[in-house]
Amino acid sequence: MKELKILAILAIIVIITYLGIEPYAKHVMHGTIPPPDFSYLDLPKFKLAGDPSKGRELFKVNCASCHSLKADGIEAGMDKKTAELSFHVVPPDLSNIAAIVEEHFLANFIRDPQNATKNPKFAMPPMGYLTNDQIGDIIAYLKSTAKKELTGKEILHDACTRCHSVKYQKIPVLTSPEHLKTYLGKIPPDLSLMGRAKEHEYLITFINNPQVLLPGTTMPRLGLTQEATEKVVAYLEQIADPHKEEREKIGMWVLIYMLIGVFLTYAWKKKIWKNIH
Ligand code: HEC
Ligand code: HEC
Repeated sequence: MKELKILAILAIIVIITYLGIEPYAKHVMHGTIPPPDFSYLDLPKFKLAGDPSKGRELFKVNCASCHSLKADGIEAGMDKKTAELSFHVVPPDLSNIAAIVEEHFLANFIRDPQNATKNPKFAMPPMGYLTNDQIGDIIAYLKSTAKKELTGKEILHDACTRCHSVKYQKIPVLTSPEHLKTYLGKIPPDLSLMGRAKEHEYLITFINNPQVLLPGTTMPRLGLTQEATEKVVAYLEQIADPHKEEREKIGMWVLIYMLIGVFLTYAWKKKIWKNIH
């Protein structure tokens, strides 16, 4: 009976270390991470209603000099080289942006990108001259062109790859690194292994608002919706550790196998010692 008790205590210690040590280590290393805010309530709310066909005309006049919108056959007024010389970053295609960026953030962003992104040097000029109605029209138009269901990879492409490469997935960065360095003060890191290097909660909060975790950083707040943020993080985690699920399944089987082994050994020992006691 004594052996059984020792065995039980050992098993409990092993289980506690196995389940507890990783969360504890992460807690010690990163401290507690503030939760994200997907409603962007630090930005003023205003009413948004709009007419997509008016929005299309407004887009062509106010946005298409820099941005393409390929889903509707609109090409950007400038090529990559000119954009780099002007902004040191290539403006993204906006076909699906309304499915990626939260609506209320987007409205504030169009009016005052520097304030919305919390990056005073954000390269897009403010458009405070547009009225609320005009901004509403533009957003209605952007919604009309956006695909409803985007994958994490598609979101990454439209929201991140103007600054970040993902080399292991053969996804190149769209802006030349020298220009990004001039613009952002450093070359943004490759994202191939980010899903393993950083904890899940860290990635969610960082993408939601980089300033919370790296005060003064030049990565802009991008205003992603909760869904888009979760999808892009899930994608980063999956590509950083494609065999994780498989490994965890095997790990469980190994534990069960070892437990069976322990009990067989115990039973065998009992049998041998039975006659001696
Ligand atoms: C003079 C050029 C220029 C014009 C005009 C312009 N943009 Fe931009 N825009 C940029 C640049 C450059 C960036 C990328 C900056 C960066 O990522 O640091 C950008 C980024 C964006 C983003 C991405 C923001 C995010 O959260 O990922 C959106 C959305 C956007 N612009 C919408 C618009 C809309 C809508 C208009 C028209 C009302 C417009 N832009 C007009 C240059 C421009
Ligand atoms: C306008 C350029 C720009 C865009 C767009 C951008 N980033 Fe960044 N990102 C940066 C810069 C610059 C850094 C380096 C931050 C620092 O060290 O201050 C960075 C760093 C990061 C980091 C590392 C954080 C850390 O603690 O080291 C992650 C993760 C990240 N970005 C994810 C993303 C994702 C995901 C997207 C798209 C949703 C994105 N970024 C879009 C510029 C950008």
